[in-house]
Amino acid sequence: MAGLTRRGLLRAGLGALPLVQLPMTRQALAAAGVPVGAAVMIEDLRSDPRIKDALIRYCDVVVPMNELKWEALRHSRAGFDYSAADEVITFARRNGKGLRGHTLVWHDGLPAWARTIGSRAEAERELTLHIETVVARYRGIMPVWDVVNEVVSHEAPPDAPLRDSIWLRHLGPGYIETAFRLAAAADPKARLVINDYDLENTGARTARRRAEILRLIRSLKDKGVPVHGLGMQAHLYAEREIDVGGLQQFLAELARLEVSLAITELDVIDWRLPADVAARDAAAARLVAGFLKTVIDVRKPESVITWGLTDRSSWISGTFRRSDGLPNRPLPLDADYRPKPMMRVLEGVRRGWN
Ligand code: XIL
Repeated sequence: MAGLTRRGLLRAGLGALPLVQLPMTRQALAAAGVPVGAAVMIEDLRSDPRIKDALIRYCDVVVPMNELKWEALRHSRAGFDYSAADEVITFARRNGKGLRGHTLVWHDGLPAWARTIGSRAEAERELTLHIETVVARYRGIMPVWDVVNEVVSHEAPPDAPLRDSIWLRHLGPGYIETAFRLAAAADPKARLVINDYDLENTGARTARRRAEILRLIRSLKDKGVPVHGLGMQAHLYAEREIDVGGLQQFLAELARLEVSLAITELDVIDWRLPADVAARDAAAARLVAGFLKTVIDVRKPESVITWGLTDRSSWISGTFRRSDGLPNRPLPLDADYRPKPMMRVLEGVRRGWN
């Protein structure tokens, strides 16, 4: 691709970083100017004016990180509370940013009352009410929804490929089809996405997960279910290897299924990387550049979104703590909002690297 030639990389400031060399393709040339963005949580938006400036400066798309989850919208069983979601969405719209809706159906992020849903009838009633209400409220505002999040089970064994959840338990695998149909009915123009993680590395488990995603999308499409895109979360483990061949084949299959692609939660899990900050940041940038090149060589994503913008605020710090106790550095800005090498990669993607 034009963007990942030596020259392009030099301009992006990454000339010194060794990258896997792949042939330049026409699709890759067309990758000029992929919109980039970040998720942000309401607590940060309210408390730190610097995050607003950074989102305005670096992002085309802003994603409410937690504010559209059940936990936030339906903390009380009695009604819907849009206050936090609306604050993020209003900020994005006022500043001309695109949006993604995350997420309508997830096994996690549920308020306590929803975790006790106890029957098929109740599950159906609450799921229907939720999707109809939320999607209709943001009709014409939210262009794309992660309709289902993380529905493939972690190990994806052939006999239990779908994740255990209150939805699967009470409604069976058909809840996925139901969710997409409900979302489409509530906003026929919204783009409807299946979002999932661990699709990029080598190994049998990841290969099974990719196969299951394809199987799921194919079976939905065969039934005429409106599924328009796949979101790859892309929480990248620095110690794991990107399966270049497997991933590219997967993305080619997706294209044949006429499903679009977005990178929805990009960050680097740096718990096993060296302590040295410069070395760590360079390795993280190299990983992100190599991953995005692998993707863009086959498929231009709709957008590339990082899960947060600054190392000051990331779920990685809570979930993948380093054994040396040093703070994690998973995102494109450091804790003082200074751009790291990863940001140069993303700015390259945004510009098209020419
Ligand atoms: C995480 C948020 O970043 C945290 O702030 C929150 O406490 C838990 O959820 N996969 C997803 C995201 O799809 O919704 C998760 O976000 C991270 C993993």
